[in-house]
Amino acid sequence: MKKILITGGAGFIGSHVVRLFVNKYPNYQIVNLDKLTYAGNLANLKDIENQPNYKFIKGDIVDAAFIDQLFEEHKFDGVVHLAAESHVDRSITNPLEFVMTNVIGTVNLLNSARNQWKDNFSTHRFYHVSTDEVYGSLGETGLFTETTGYDPHSPYSASKASSDHFVRAYHDTYGLNAVISNCSNNYGSYHFPEKLIPLSIYNIKNNKSIPIYGKGENIRDWLWVEDHARAIDLIYHNAKAGVTYNIGGHNEWTNIDLIHLLCKIMDKKLNRVEGESAKLITYVKDRAGHDLRYAIDSSKLQKELGWTPSLQFEEGLEKTVDWYLTNEEWLNNVTSGDYKKYYQQQYVKR
Ligand code: NAD
Ligand code: DAU
Repeated sequence: MKKILITGGAGFIGSHVVRLFVNKYPNYQIVNLDKLTYAGNLANLKDIENQPNYKFIKGDIVDAAFIDQLFEEHKFDGVVHLAAESHVDRSITNPLEFVMTNVIGTVNLLNSARNQWKDNFSTHRFYHVSTDEVYGSLGETGLFTETTGYDPHSPYSASKASSDHFVRAYHDTYGLNAVISNCSNNYGSYHFPEKLIPLSIYNIKNNKSIPIYGKGENIRDWLWVEDHARAIDLIYHNAKAGVTYNIGGHNEWTNIDLIHLLCKIMDKKLNRVEGESAKLITYVKDRAGHDLRYAIDSSKLQKELGWTPSLQFEEGLEKTVDWYLTNEEWLNNVTSGDYKKYYQQQYVKR
């Protein structure tokens, strides 16, 4: 029986990865390590929490002694590392938190993996889940490939870029069997409502304004979260050591076009007159250092491992809206308490 550590498994993408691995590989023992920050939520995993091949451990990857002890005790065969501070706006307010978790936390995991696996790197995999934001911003044309130079602009993307460099350094210097993937913007169920799509769904539902940064002309390449989880599964099991794959949806939208589509879907679902939700659109002060455009060339992953995105965006967005409208309790729970303080600071006081 293989034992795999998944970090950040109580977050948005991590919970989809944990669910996929637990259900698809009953002969694996899946250990989910998560600090349960504001973004981590065990309710994301209610459907699999009692499966015999699943175990949750609460802990902080910044605590090196704890991570060492965890590796010593569990003798993991591999790691899928997703734990991170993930929100760009929060990184602008509090960069150090991002350095601690995303850089120091990653290096702690690398050190423990190296110590435990040094006699047999080839049979132990370290998979680091990263972002397209490390590549910086595109102009009107072009796509990020795996050889695009790193050019991060936000404290978040700088911390992720740094962690990517450390992972590559541990492969090149010590021979750690490491792989990295850099993915574009994900959307789907269990997405915390500080990010554009779930925040807008929540606000539209509650007749609150939809804050659009700047002119709404920034472009993101959106991918259904379950397609990302499938890509992670493929890469974890099939990639050669030291390899990087880009993952993306071939699905570019300006923020304003995306929000108009979302408003149209919400009007239909909430039985509103067409155009009513769009009246909530409000242009607000731009994000500092706001990257203009991200777009991914995922042809390497498609050619080498046969992955393709499964859903059209219109279909995926409608499914996402349905999920949020039928999971009211989840949404109400995550938007109570601290969320209100965050919302006040981010959108009302500035
Ligand atoms: P998220 O914020 O929803 O979840 C992060 C999880 O990590 C949470 O459960 C949190 O409790 C946990 N965590 C945070 N700090 C920790 C610490 N010190 N120790 C242990 N656990 C800790 O993030 P997400 O959107 O699911 O992103 C997951 C990963 O995927 C991140 O590494 C992110 O950089 C990357 N990524 C995200 C996207 C996206 O669109 N969301 C796209 C590409 C890559
Ligand atoms: O590209 C991958 C990245 O996608 C991940 O690495 C990050 O973890 C993830 O958070 C996401 O980053 P973005 O900054 O692109 O996502 P966010 O949802 O915060 O913003 C999407 C776009 O919408 C961006 O151009 C900023 C804009 N925006 C965002 C918010 C929260 C608004 O206009 N208004 C808002 O209120």
